[in-house]
Amino acid sequence: MLRAHGDREATNLLVHGDNLAALEAVRAQGVRFRCAYLDPPYNTGRNFEEYDDTLGDHRWTSMMHPRLEAVHALLEDDGMIAVEIDDTQLSSLLVLLDRVFGAENRISIVTVVRSAPTGHKAKNRGPVHVSDFLLLYAKDRRAWRYRAQHRARTGFDEAYSTWLENPDDPPSRFRFRPLRSVVARALGHASTREASRAIGKEAMDRAVAEHALRHPRHVVRFAQPRYEAISKKAQRLVDRSKASPERVFVLDRAPLTPLVLRGGNRMLTLASKVRDVNGQPALVEPITNVWDDVPFQGIAREGGVVFARNKKPEKLVARVVAMATDPGDWVLDPFLGSGTTAAVAHKLGRRWVGIELGDHVLSLAEPRLARVVRGEDATGIAYDRGEAPNGFRVARVDLPRTRAPR
Ligand SMILES: C[S@@+](CC[C@H](N)C(=O)[O-])C[C@H]1O[C@@H](n2cnc3c(N)ncnc32)[C@H](O)[C@@H]1O
Repeated sequence: MLRAHGDREATNLLVHGDNLAALEAVRAQGVRFRCAYLDPPYNTGRNFEEYDDTLGDHRWTSMMHPRLEAVHALLEDDGMIAVEIDDTQLSSLLVLLDRVFGAENRISIVTVVRSAPTGHKAKNRGPVHVSDFLLLYAKDRRAWRYRAQHRARTGFDEAYSTWLENPDDPPSRFRFRPLRSVVARALGHASTREASRAIGKEAMDRAVAEHALRHPRHVVRFAQPRYEAISKKAQRLVDRSKASPERVFVLDRAPLTPLVLRGGNRMLTLASKVRDVNGQPALVEPITNVWDDVPFQGIAREGGVVFARNKKPEKLVARVVAMATDPGDWVLDPFLGSGTTAAVAHKLGRRWVGIELGDHVLSLAEPRLARVVRGEDATGIAYDRGEAPNGFRVARVDLPRTRAPR
């Protein structure tokens, strides 16, 4: 061990050395990971200040293959790997991951939008490249559990147009009113029309959205259930609800939320779509396989380190970590670069191992992570640590020396 930072009992590990040898050493220690994020060299043909990225297709594939196998062996049975890449090696990587993890364990190929089509990129022949790809594979798709992730959505979903007076009462006693008339009253107007005339339609729309976000348990919409997709019991209740449209019917489905029906339609509350985003209630929607809401612009100062063109946004890595792990789980990054994954894992209360070959592990990642464990990093994602021990050790792993031929 070279050095330690923070709590003595912390088992997080920063390794300086080649990741193949380091993964072997980690395996010998018996650690297993629930998530591995890999951001390998993209084979850009460029010689960066910190590392050489000119392997060429064949050597790149030969370099990656044993490393993917080593990561596969280190994952928990319900673990996940995420590998970020651009389109240079996308096809080789896909073939490799299908071979090592199995195509049946592919979770998703996410398009990560990195930039806008401006400047020199727009001069390329053909469509402008603005994206990376994140290839997500489970070690065993049947054992893997998705921790659902959401993103803020713009605009208000106007289908949520009904106000539920008494959400705490038993559903059979629910009373409903039009949401807009409740908001008009709250603004001191006798009717929706009067409110719109007084403040204008746009301001009224804004007021409705703000009121709804402040009282999401009171705001509901009704949607037709897919008859063929629900149970026989639920179908019978839908039929009864259609026959008595004024009554509210309820089907208990513990541990799921109860099915509440009126006029044959299912009630959905806005509360399930509202999350706290930076301390404010915001409307969210499930993430898709296109991530265009994680800015790469403005990350130059994240972690207080300069790692031009290669550093990834903490928010991006945090989304990967959050979808595949719980607090206390182990996260691995064998191409650690400036330390982003370790910083994110640390801030989210996960345990981590980060491996980096280049000397920038000492000049960039180590001081960055030391600031993170001291609670001094005000950049990137916020801290949400819980009780996890707060420190890390630095170790060096050398490649086994090949004996010189006699
Ligand atoms: C694209 S960068 C990773 C950037 C990182 N995600 C960040 O946010 O800072 C790829 C890194 O992999 C490292 N690397 C390349 N080959 C390696 C190897 N065999 N073992 C360990 N690290 C390696 C490079 O030195 C480089 O820092």
